[in-house]
Amino acid sequence: MKEAVEKAKIQLNEIDAIACTYGPGLVGALLVGVSYAKALSYSLNKPLIAVNHIKGHIAANYITYPELEPPFLCIMMSGGNTQIIHVKDYTKFEVLGKTRDDAIGEAFDKVARVIGLGYPGGPKIDKLAKEGKPNIVLPKVHLDNLDFSFSGIKTAVINLNHKDPNINKANLAASFEKTVSEILVEKTKKAVIQTNINKIVLAGGVSANTYIRNEFDKLSKKEKIKVYYPELKLCTDNAAMISTCGYYEYISGNIAELTLNAIPNLKIE
Ligand code: KG4
Repeated sequence: MKEAVEKAKIQLNEIDAIACTYGPGLVGALLVGVSYAKALSYSLNKPLIAVNHIKGHIAANYITYPELEPPFLCIMMSGGNTQIIHVKDYTKFEVLGKTRDDAIGEAFDKVARVIGLGYPGGPKIDKLAKEGKPNIVLPKVHLDNLDFSFSGIKTAVINLNHKDPNINKANLAASFEKTVSEILVEKTKKAVIQTNINKIVLAGGVSANTYIRNEFDKLSKKEKIKVYYPELKLCTDNAAMISTCGYYEYISGNIAELTLNAIPNLKIE
């Protein structure tokens, strides 16, 4: 076993380029990676590739589906971002809609904390919701365009829990998940009509959610929409997605300078 692990390890001389995330995210974490990658790139004399973390999440799907090719629409649902992105090519993106307040993962985590589940809340809500019934009506903000808003539903759950600390938490979790899924599916349908693109790719930590995956599977069966989502271990942050994205940047000739810095609020466009 130990031998097999050793054999599977990639040696530095087998690497063509060094990819690292330089944003968006928390500057401290980004700087650790950027500094390490710059030093490695310099010392090995290999090109440095700067990767946008969000593009990395999208690229996780290319690992799960080697046949997947742009153009497609990506529903990006992570801890810090919620966006509908038109992926025009491997390195060309246009944001069609985004959250006006909380990111979806942030809403999952805050709701989980308030109902006593702890952090990270997404997987815990996912588990608890399976024991409950989605029988509590929660508000949805109706925006005419492809933007999202999740702060209202998050506050509604928090208020219900404050008013009645004995409220059935599993039902609350199930209702939250159901309402959030409805919002995602409604916006996706709208984006499909607007763009005439019926290839939908889910990405980001929240795309691991069982209920949301099921709802998108149903959508794909009902409408002529093909839905893709990464295998579970590739949904949350991982190095494989960053290197895959780095590969596409590399073959497009996007090589970074050694002066590369972290950009906490880096945009995708
Ligand atoms: O994409 P990600 O790993 O981090 C960012 O790049 O932001 O996403 C983390 C988020 C957290 O909010 C976590 O609660 C959520 O993904 N998450 C889930 C599930 N697994 C992780 N949310 C809902 N259901 C899940 N099963």
